[in-house]
Amino acid sequence: MRILYVGDVVGRAGREAFIRRAAELRSRLSLDAIVVNGENAAGGYGITPSIAGELLAAGADLLTTGNHVFDQKELIAAIDGEPRILRPLNMAPGTPGRGVGEVRTARGRRLLVLQVMGRLFMGLWDDPFRALEAELARHRLGGTVDAILVDLHAEATSEKMALGHFLDGRVSLVAGTHTHVPTADAQILPGGTAYISDVGMTGDYDSVIGMDKEGSLLRWRSDLPGKRLEPAGGEATLCAVLVETDERTGLARRVAPVRRLIQWWAEAALEGRPMRPGLSEAALSQRVCDLALVSADTGLRQLV
Ligand SMILES: [Fe+2]
Ligand SMILES: [Fe+2]
Repeated sequence: MRILYVGDVVGRAGREAFIRRAAELRSRLSLDAIVVNGENAAGGYGITPSIAGELLAAGADLLTTGNHVFDQKELIAAIDGEPRILRPLNMAPGTPGRGVGEVRTARGRRLLVLQVMGRLFMGLWDDPFRALEAELARHRLGGTVDAILVDLHAEATSEKMALGHFLDGRVSLVAGTHTHVPTADAQILPGGTAYISDVGMTGDYDSVIGMDKEGSLLRWRSDLPGKRLEPAGGEATLCAVLVETDERTGLARRVAPVRRLIQWWAEAALEGRPMRPGLSEAALSQRVCDLALVSADTGLRQLV
């Protein structure tokens, strides 16, 4: 199976980047499924049922969230009725929603998706290791399900890497989210699980983790209560990770970051015009996307 996991979509800019590119990515990358973290899709804070509907209609098969899951209060009443929106598994018992979802692909393959939150710098959540252990006891990769994806919504890379090794050999992909900054450590762990500490956000990178940089700077530099931060509205970069799984075992065969820089960044690169810092990354990212396609024929085990 080929699965694309899209990092935290932030605000309108992030939503538009995903909606505009989803169909093209699905066909160009021959995707069986697209999973999107939508915890910041509604103005940076949570997700509404109608925005979730837009992302699902555009091509997302399942949406994960995170610590911001219930920032938009209308989701509290709606989440039990929408199995395509997950919230972290390790929230208090009785919390509405679910932390596990399933995608049945067009080819009839079964993809299981789980999400947990970390605890370091995050909050007093239940133990994510135990929550995952309990859920994975019910499923067998390559047996009851064809692929398993785990969204690790956490701040600390140490906690994420420990969870990655804890899951190695039992799931197809462990994809970190929440920090909104992509890491360069996409790899296949010794047991065959693909891992990346953070996929990065899908939002405007001329910002502070997707939010307006002036407002954020004021907050960092003052002890007075600041205004509610707004998402940055410039062109967004779509950040995702692509994993290809073995049809028999469900373990990872290849993993590659996918970064789509849109609109004027991409146009400037094509036309050779000067750009803001980021030109070399734009060109390299496009090259990596192209190599991800080429690697299907090369036998490369991973591409980073
Ligand atoms: Fe986020
Ligand atoms: Fe988060």
